[in-house]
Amino acid sequence: MIRSVVRGVGSALPRRVMKNTDFEGVLETSDAWIVQRTGIRQRHIAGDDETTASLGEAAARAALASAGLTPDDVDMILLATSTPNNTFPATAVDIQSRLGMRHGFAFDMQAVCSGFVYAVVTADAYIRGGLAKRIVVIGAETFSRILDWTDRSTCVLFGDGAGAIVLEASEEPGAPGDRGVLAAALRSDGTHKDKLFVDGGPSTTGTVGHLRMEGREVFKHAVGMITDVIEATFDQAKITAEDLDWFVPHQANRRIIDASAKKLGIADEKVVVTVDLHGNTSAASVPLALSVAVSDGRINKGDLVMLEAMGGGFTWGAVLIRW
Ligand code: UT7
Repeated sequence: MIRSVVRGVGSALPRRVMKNTDFEGVLETSDAWIVQRTGIRQRHIAGDDETTASLGEAAARAALASAGLTPDDVDMILLATSTPNNTFPATAVDIQSRLGMRHGFAFDMQAVCSGFVYAVVTADAYIRGGLAKRIVVIGAETFSRILDWTDRSTCVLFGDGAGAIVLEASEEPGAPGDRGVLAAALRSDGTHKDKLFVDGGPSTTGTVGHLRMEGREVFKHAVGMITDVIEATFDQAKITAEDLDWFVPHQANRRIIDASAKKLGIADEKVVVTVDLHGNTSAASVPLALSVAVSDGRINKGDLVMLEAMGGGFTWGAVLIRW
């Protein structure tokens, strides 16, 4: 059967690093509060010349280079983002043109923090459906541009960045040992739409708006939703937490990551954590974490890797990949 196998991974971060201490004196907050409540120590913030398109392009180039491929070898670009360069066209077509691609097709997906997981599952369906053979799947965000920098309950949490993978169609035996995307579960529930949202948009205010979040409410639902889709994915693949080599969760809050891993029985040493370095980069968080764990030698060919995310909507999902 046809499976979507990961050929390469890459990432890009803005030059500027903002430490927790940089908020002290500007807002009523502290490094100690941020670290204790979230695990975040720093985040990268885009400069004037850095955008979702430029970061996404850099991550795509890095992923292609690690795959030993060029843009000529790819037939589709899928970008998960909630912070596009423009309302339209899709930032993915901007990235397509920056890569010099005059063939294939590109579009954006919007599932906020779950965007990359949704995009991997979508790309896998395009590959298995025969619509594309090689896809660059990107998560790229510049949340710094939609933050209310006077709101300490949100602005300390988020950062900017981009990560990407290259997925390629591969004929596999159809056995549990297959490489590629093996199982997935996606969910959304729009009754929670006002708990994490942006208070502007083209069809309402005609403005871009700012991120608003009832953090405690999101927190309350997060662990249950995350563990639910991961257990559904375990059931589909007929595996247990013990079979996993790596757990690469959405990087929003260290406490949510730890509580989810504990509830699922995933050992601490299998959990990839980068929230301390990047903060919450929404759709970029999972591919940024993947990129770190691949480049430092933790994730290797043949490893069983569970990706997971939860965010605005609410949306949530999990995808199991044999690397
Ligand atoms: O990526 C999408 C998913 N998003 C998330 O997963 C975020 C989920 N939520 C969270 O991670 C946590 O709820 C937060 C980190 C946002 C907040 O942590 P918390 O433990 O839930 O704190 P809280 O909201 O209950 O606030 C506790 C106190 C409040 O003061 P009072 O009301 O107890 O006097 C806040 O006003 O902490 C205060 N506070 C702060 N204090 C210092 C809120 N933000 C800050 C801050 N510095 N930056």
